[in-house]
Amino acid sequence: MVRYLLLIAPSSNRVYAGEALRLAERELAAFGETVLRDAGLRDVSREEVAGVEYLGFTAEPPLTDDQLGFVSNLSGAYVLFGWEGPESLRPVRLTPTAYYDDDLLTILKYPGKTNEQFTRLLLNLTVAASQRSAELRGGERPEPSSRLVVCDPLCGRGTTLNQALRYGYDAVGIEADNAHVDAYAAFLRTWLRRKRLKHRVEIHPVRHERQRVARRLTASVAPSKAAHDAGADQRVTVVHADTLRAREFLKGRSCDVIVTDAPYGVVHGSRAAGRSARDRRPQELLDAALPGWVALLRPGGALGLSFNTHLASREEIAELLTRHDLSVVDSPGYQGFDHWVDQGITRDLLVATMPSAPRPAGHE
Ligand SMILES: C[S@@+](CC[C@H](N)C(=O)[O-])C[C@H]1O[C@@H](n2cnc3c(N)ncnc32)[C@H](O)[C@@H]1O
Repeated sequence: MVRYLLLIAPSSNRVYAGEALRLAERELAAFGETVLRDAGLRDVSREEVAGVEYLGFTAEPPLTDDQLGFVSNLSGAYVLFGWEGPESLRPVRLTPTAYYDDDLLTILKYPGKTNEQFTRLLLNLTVAASQRSAELRGGERPEPSSRLVVCDPLCGRGTTLNQALRYGYDAVGIEADNAHVDAYAAFLRTWLRRKRLKHRVEIHPVRHERQRVARRLTASVAPSKAAHDAGADQRVTVVHADTLRAREFLKGRSCDVIVTDAPYGVVHGSRAAGRSARDRRPQELLDAALPGWVALLRPGGALGLSFNTHLASREEIAELLTRHDLSVVDSPGYQGFDHWVDQGITRDLLVATMPSAPRPAGHE
């Protein structure tokens, strides 16, 4: 039996930092139900040692390297110790997955950006609930035969996409605001050039009967020259279009997880084409968009959604997801993530899974 103490990463956002320990506790509980199911975690509690607060937990037997790999990728994980008495903390090596430097996520700052640590939390919970949960393990892991594909169908300036890249996944986004798409493309180009990484970033119009109907940003990036030479480039695609048209531009069953932060309505309104009701209430946008999003998911995939509880209750969103043939994960580990963000914004999240058996033809 080992008692572990996890030091939580300091967040640059003071509001989020105030909630980080509680959210880390919840995230560990969700991992305890999924990727750390066999770890026998117990006695999860906050603990103070020499004036510093830690997240404490006990594992019986001690965590294996594989299990430590998952702990390493907890969104709040910073430093881990084994507790050997009040005066003695033994450092335990963490091996978080980081194909790229963390400034890929932190440099861009703009109104409406989703907190990076929260984005990683939502991605973690969603991958953990999917059938590709093994891809969440930190440390050396064999290159999978098919790379995990993360889709953010309301991607803004790409916080989810960048976290997906950092985890070694491919990423697909949809965004209606041209300023966001242009800013993301410019950022990606500059960042990749500055880091001297092999890359290609292009934006092309998508035409239908000679009319431009959308724009498509495609990027290929490799974390090292060796990875590029081995043909292991990662791909990012962003479609500049209304997310309601997702299926016109993206192939069905092409994504393993969908991870998205719904518009908050208050400060940064949603931009669903010309529907003023949709601009205020994410429910309408989600109800209209979910058939297309669900069609993008592969069997065994999962969808993670965060939303402003001032605009939509957890029950309403859960009912919406269920109506669109998804199974809401409502076990204790997937509850209690609601937290204050700003005046008028209290954020909560829900994760739902796709049935693993293919659905009957014509169901799309
Ligand atoms: C809460 S923000 C997401 C921010 C993003 N996670 C980030 O960190 O940049 C929601 C995004 O949805 C976009 N959006 C709203 N309605 C849309 C629609 N119908 N189609 C595509 N994008 C839409 C908004 O432009 C906004 O960028």
